[in-house]
Amino acid sequence: MRRKIIAGNWKMNGTVGETEALIKQLLTATTGSGHAETVVCPPFTSLMIAAKLLKGSHIGLGAQDMSQHAKGAFTGEISAELLLTLGVRFVILGHSERRQYHFETDGLVNLKTRAALAAGLTPIVCVGETLEQRENGHTESVIREQIQGTMSGFGADELRRIVIAYEPVWAIGTGRTATPDQAQEVHRSIRQLLARIDDAASRELPILYGGSVKADNARGLLSQPDIDGALVGGASLKADEFVQIINAA
Ligand code: PGA
Repeated sequence: MRRKIIAGNWKMNGTVGETEALIKQLLTATTGSGHAETVVCPPFTSLMIAAKLLKGSHIGLGAQDMSQHAKGAFTGEISAELLLTLGVRFVILGHSERRQYHFETDGLVNLKTRAALAAGLTPIVCVGETLEQRENGHTESVIREQIQGTMSGFGADELRRIVIAYEPVWAIGTGRTATPDQAQEVHRSIRQLLARIDDAASRELPILYGGSVKADNARGLLSQPDIDGALVGGASLKADEFVQIINAA
């Protein structure tokens, strides 16, 4: 059976105080005894307090991005090692907002993924098509290019340590979710692409869905055979809603 993961992407939200309050609520409301691993990804400035509160708990900690470089003169950047020493275990890479606002390419996401793996972090690599690409019937080719580009040079060993998130850009923060069938279709094709690299590893790799996941649509999405969890934005900022999504898994 594949690992199930529910990850909260807080984006640029959460002061240190807000992080403390939200994490305390999550720790009280969840037991960790379900089938899904829970991960929260607060902004860099809240990682330290989050790490302190989550230490030894059933909730894992992730960052939202990192540099492809190991160290040195890269003003404003954060390396894998800096994250690791804080207690961070996961890192979201290639989120569509990074691609859109910071011009990140598949090639760069590939380098970042390599750096994350080399340091022992679990990368959550994001792919997804825009509305225009979907409407023009290009979903499959866009996803293929993103998977081939971000996974370039990887074999079974790498795939076994990677998590993929399928996040259709048109569903992020819009309240428009892919239907369970639409999402399943893309998840299945992602797994088939990965199977070309290594069939056994492709069956083990968790593929998360992201894009307006809420308490009321989580169950339908998560019941699909190739949907192994969720990357949750807005709804992960409300403890009660996020807990309902965790419970749905
Ligand atoms: P959303 O964001 O749940 O607010 O749509 C998901 C994401 O961007 O990871």
